[in-house]
Amino acid sequence: MYSEKVMDHFNHPRNVGEIENASGVGTVGNAKCGDIMRIYLDIDDDGIIRDVKFKTFGCGAAVATSSMATELVKGKSVQEAMQVTNKAVMEALDGLPPVKVHCSLLAEEAIHAALWDYAKKNGIEIEGLQQPKSDIHEGEEEEEEEY
Ligand code: FES
Repeated sequence: MYSEKVMDHFNHPRNVGEIENASGVGTVGNAKCGDIMRIYLDIDDDGIIRDVKFKTFGCGAAVATSSMATELVKGKSVQEAMQVTNKAVMEALDGLPPVKVHCSLLAEEAIHAALWDYAKKNGIEIEGLQQPKSDIHEGEEEEEEEY
């Protein structure tokens, strides 16, 4: 049911961990299954993602998609990272079963949430980036968020 790539990234997830003093951190959750994903980005002065780490408290497909998503954004510019959609992640993994497609959305949303955090901290705007709806990062003052 799962491709070899999904199994590989599930069994050997890349870039697991955290980054201290990260340029941007994004945490998102899926209300339906309760799974949570957090992405840390280390972005240099030229806007290049030098390092990325993730923590996922979730299903195997969520682990595999976060792992692949981190591989896809590493070394890329912020603008290029915006192209890493859940579709791109799924393609890179040779597909996911239909019931697991929502899991790949977490990875895209977590990256966007981390980019949003980075943009906010630096007072910049990233083209095409909208405020994440499901960012549940503790310590942020977005009281109007529902989760
Ligand atoms: Fe929740 Fe996969 S079942 S992210």
